[in-house]
Amino acid sequence: MPELNQEPETPMSSATAPRKMSRRNMLMIFGIALNAVAGVLFAVPVVGYIFGPARRKEMKKELAWITLGPLTQFPEGQTRLATYRNPFVRPWDGDTGNIPCWVRRISADKLQVFAINCAHLGCPVRWYPQSGLFMCPCHGGAYYADGSRASGPPPRGLFEYDYKLEAGQLWIKAGQVPTLASPPSQACADQPKRCACA
Ligand code: FES
Repeated sequence: MPELNQEPETPMSSATAPRKMSRRNMLMIFGIALNAVAGVLFAVPVVGYIFGPARRKEMKKELAWITLGPLTQFPEGQTRLATYRNPFVRPWDGDTGNIPCWVRRISADKLQVFAINCAHLGCPVRWYPQSGLFMCPCHGGAYYADGSRASGPPPRGLFEYDYKLEAGQLWIKAGQVPTLASPPSQACADQPKRCACA
């Protein structure tokens, strides 16, 4: 039996009782979070669209003349493989930032620098001096020594880099792989006297 002077048990006051979140509140918070995520996902492409042209302009400025080394590395009458480091690499790009290209030295100051990628679907082409052809291992595309299309599925010849000769070095305008949409003609337009390309 309870003692007479014992205080009766009272229910916990609302201030001290642990608050329970109602189902409605929980759903509301969940809905807000979901909307926030959807808003961010929606905003990313919009922001990209707005700032894309500015970024492209910036990248054009970044197009850089990069040396492939001393001209003496490329004997006249030969086609040799060279490699440069893409100026747009990020630290995590590793070896993928090393871009090979083919250098054909026609005469003392006349050269051609070809992108290594086939103009069909981009496989790396290989130079065969015995036959005087660039061959693509993927679908049998072939190109003549001057890069023009010889046979197979490629719709055109190999893409060429703009180049210049300076201080005994061969320089190419790199950072942008030439494509049908952006042929590498701007360098000649920019510096017609210094650019040796036709
Ligand atoms: S990728 Fe070279 S022929 Fe198709």
